[in-house]
Amino acid sequence: MDNVWVVFVTALILFLSIVVLTFFQKLFRLKSFKSRDNHQLPLGSMGWPFIGETADYVSSAYTVGPDAFINKRRSMYGKVFKSHMFGSPTIVSTDAEVNRFVLQSDATVFVPCYPKSVSELMGELSILCINGRLHRKIHCLVAGFFKSHRLKSQITTEMQSFVQQSMANWNEDRPVFIQDVAKSIAFQLLVKTLISLDPGDEMDLLRKHYQEFISGFISLPVNLPGTMLHHSLQAKKKMRKIVQKIIQEKRDRGLYKDPKDVVDLLLKDASGHCDKLIADNVIDMMIPGEESVPVLVALAIKYLSESPLALQQLTEENMKLKRLKDQNGEPLSWKDYMSLPFTQKVITETLRMGNIIMGVFRKATKDVEVKGISIPKGWCVFTYFRSVHLDDTNYDHPHQFNPWRWQNKDMSSTTFTPFGGGLRLCPGLDLPRLEASIFLHHLVTRFRWSAEEDTIVNFPTVRMKRRMPIWVKKVKLD
Ligand code: HEM
Repeated sequence: MDNVWVVFVTALILFLSIVVLTFFQKLFRLKSFKSRDNHQLPLGSMGWPFIGETADYVSSAYTVGPDAFINKRRSMYGKVFKSHMFGSPTIVSTDAEVNRFVLQSDATVFVPCYPKSVSELMGELSILCINGRLHRKIHCLVAGFFKSHRLKSQITTEMQSFVQQSMANWNEDRPVFIQDVAKSIAFQLLVKTLISLDPGDEMDLLRKHYQEFISGFISLPVNLPGTMLHHSLQAKKKMRKIVQKIIQEKRDRGLYKDPKDVVDLLLKDASGHCDKLIADNVIDMMIPGEESVPVLVALAIKYLSESPLALQQLTEENMKLKRLKDQNGEPLSWKDYMSLPFTQKVITETLRMGNIIMGVFRKATKDVEVKGISIPKGWCVFTYFRSVHLDDTNYDHPHQFNPWRWQNKDMSSTTFTPFGGGLRLCPGLDLPRLEASIFLHHLVTRFRWSAEEDTIVNFPTVRMKRRMPIWVKKVKLD
């Protein structure tokens, strides 16, 4: 009899708790709906108090990849859903139009938002964190410089030389790790473009500090001696010292008047940017060079190794160009590389499938409404590009590597945003295409190669698990 009472009382307490919880939940929802003029928050779950769904997202992203968390909720709640991630209530959008709206909005509506460890490492003056007029000014300056023909010619000459030096040391009896090779080349190239530093001891030291700096990006936001974040911030200080010394020399000798690198450009600009702003931005711009461009190259090799027809067409296209140029005794120009039609389609398809930047975070600076969805002030939006790029309503057989799909497809559509969009559209977007194209050209015209098995890791950043090992055999040219 006692047992029956215990079960009865427990069931009653449970029932009452559920009633009370449901009442408060409904009350809260009602309040938020009413305050938003018929627009409503999308469906979704806010997860646990304080931590929200961060642990779910991170653990499933590490184990099965970032899509599992997103796809599950997308099928339950729709293309746009609410969640609570990285300490903030968040709207996750896998909808191309909502993403476009967010990307196109300026800082009066959305500002970038990063995990605390990342924004501490970037610093408040980084192009990634600043807003308004200063951001526009620096973005335009940098984008103009990266687009200039002069820079592209300079990059082509240097990249060819770095690639040739590296390939001269490739051996037929051991594998070449493409991701490592591409990293080393891309870093040298970018440091030259940013501060005109040539390979040597100072560059090696800068790279050593850079690697310590980058290791703190995915760390706990605790800046105390001994923590990863502290160690990274110290490394950034050392990098800043090297870069500021270079800035000072340029200032003293008036070397920046005919800009040859990004430092010159910022020094020459009449706004008189302080050395810290210049140094910090230059350091932050090393990140895409060292991280994303090499991954693009490694991914292209991975996809080509699994698509013999695409590899054959790419090789034929590049051999044809090489023969033509050799016959005329002309060197290849950046325009030659950028106008290889099939090679560029391979790069585009790699960007779509590879999703090197899986999405970006923004924070709403006021209540916003888009497509009948309400985004409250202070909430974050995670524009998740991966889902849009891998959605079968946007791309037939989206998980199939198919460079030919770009034959009649518009690259500037809202469903293709590997470089983001709007005011923060990647200002360096031509450089990955150019660098990847040069690398692929020299690889397929000088070697026959076969790849070892490797896996793409998609979280926390995209990379090849085994650094993309390939075996090469030199081609004998007639
Ligand atoms: C495959 C290579 C690359 C990919 C996929 C990529 C992608 C992106 C994306 C998605 C953004 C937008 C971020 C946002 O909206 O918050 C961005 C911004 C940016 N990228 Fe790239 N990028 C690449 C290479 C480069 C290179 C080589 C550079 C040159 C140094 C560069 C410099 C920048 C800068 C400075 C920004 C910040 C722009 C701003 O906030 O105004 N990126 N990139």
